[in-house]
This record gives sequence, structure tokens and C-alpha cells, in this order.
Amino acid sequence: ILQTLDSDIQTKYQSGKPLTMMTAYDYITAKWVHESQTDILLVGDSLAMTALGYDSTTDLPFDEFKYHVKSVCRAPGVSMIVTDMPFGTFEQNHSQGIQNAIELMKLNHRVNSVKIECGPHDKDIYTMSFIKELCQRGIPVMGHIGLTPQRANSLGGFKVQGSQSAEQILELFETAQKLQDAGCWGLVIECVPHKVATYITDHLRIPTIGIGAGNGTSGQVLVMSDMMGMILKEENNSLPRFVKQYENISTIMSSGLKKYNSDVESRTFPERDAHSFKMKETIWKDFL
Ligand code: KIV
Ligand code: NA
Repeated sequence: ILQTLDSDIQTKYQSGKPLTMMTAYDYITAKWVHESQTDILLVGDSLAMTALGYDSTTDLPFDEFKYHVKSVCRAPGVSMIVTDMPFGTFEQNHSQGIQNAIELMKLNHRVNSVKIECGPHDKDIYTMSFIKELCQRGIPVMGHIGLTPQRANSLGGFKVQGSQSAEQILELFETAQKLQDAGCWGLVIECVPHKVATYITDHLRIPTIGIGAGNGTSGQVLVMSDMMGMILKEENNSLPRFVKQYENISTIMSSGLKKYNSDVESRTFPERDAHSFKMKETIWKDFL
């Protein structure tokens, strides 16, 4: 099963060193992810909201997602690339899903794996069997459990999962085991109490990558626009508690843009000598 995992990542996982994963949306952000030697680059469908302004990941058209995957893949680099399978790309039937998974993998040879959200309920039996079909066809799949944003409506919103009862914990654990048995090479665990995520991690032989799942998972992922403060926040629009904001890119960007506007308006930019081109005085005289 672990054969579909990049050998460097497998070695790192087996040595017990936490794996790093980060989202990217396009060529620019992907270059940063590669340059920082992040283990796994995720083209997450969260780009629907963070890069494209949709209200939900379920609004994301497959064509627009593929356009972004292609842009990401044009950036050369070392990170293993995983792409989400957006809502609507596999729900009709297995053959639709297999075709779309193959299409994603064929967009660029750099795409190493797809990622699919799967819940613990009866309605997720289809997804589980679909994931198994992909794995049996040699298409590497990363599972995604806990808070699964594509199914946020049926989970009662963006809430912590597996925290309400022993039964819920067991359901999550069993889903993780089933995904491992189906052939997933790794799992994202989102918004789950740290004890639950650690327990699941300790009982699996594939890596778990946590987001809002504490520090006992095999690795961590964050959404780049959240951890970099890339989106200008409305006043009462705060980040989830599990996000650590490392930089504030939107402050830097808007400050630079305001300075530019004011420099242009005051004719401070461009400076006549520093930013412009000269010509021979004789040519200019000829012209006159
Ligand atoms: O779409 C995404 O960015 C994700 C991560 C939150 C894991 O699925
Ligand atoms: Na996602």
C-alpha cells in the first residue's frame, strides 16, 4: 500500500518526523511551496473560496479546478502534488469518477495523487467503494475524514467531528481503518479532537495529516491563504482557532498598493533618472 507514497516521504514518515503539507492555487503560490521544500503540495478545492470567491467548495466547476491544477503543475519543484476531487466529479457513478480521476492525473505528470473526502455514514458507502476502485486501478488516493467541507451541510456546518460521543469516535476510527484497507496511502484528518486524531494515527500504518487535529498526527496541513493572511478580512470574519497566522500578506500588499497610488498621483514615481530610459541628445535634436 505504501508503494504509492513518494519514497522520500515514506522514509520521513517512518523515521517519525512530521510531514508538511500546504495548499497552493497557481504557479506563483506553487513556486513558494516547492521552494520551501514542503513535502506535499495540495491543490485543495478550498481554492473555490480562498482564490476564486465562491461561497462554497461545492460551487467549484471542474473546468475551473483543472485550470488551477495545470497552473500549479507548471511550477517546477520537489513537493509531491495531491489534488482534491471536487464535489460533483465522482458522485454520479464509478465510471464518471474513474474518468475524472484519470483526467486529473493526466493534466500533468506532476500530479501524484487525488484526495477524496469520506464520511462514516451509510451514505458514504458509495464513496468508500469508489475509493477502493481507484486504488485497485493503481490511482493513488489520499482519504479525508472528520470535517469534510463538501458535506458540511449534512454535518450541520463547519463543526468539530468525533467529539460528541464514544460512538462518533468509533465511527471515525473505523472509517480511517476502512480507508487504509481500501488502499489509501494517507489520510487528512480535519477538525477532530487531538486525542481522537492521535489515537487514529497510532493505530494506522499510513500517515495522517492533520488540520485542526492536534499535534499527534503524522503531519500537518494548513490553507495558505489562512496562514499567510492573504485575504483582506471583513471585521468580524475571524480565522478558525486551529490556524496559526505566520504572516500578514494582505497588509503588506495593500500597503504597497496604496504607496504606489500615492506615488503616481504625486509624480514621485517613476523617478525621471532611476526608472526611465535615456537617448542620445543628438538624436533628440534631429527629431526637433
Ligand atoms: O481544500 C483544502 O484546502 C483541503 C485542506 C483543508 C486539507 O482539503
Ligand atoms: Na478540500
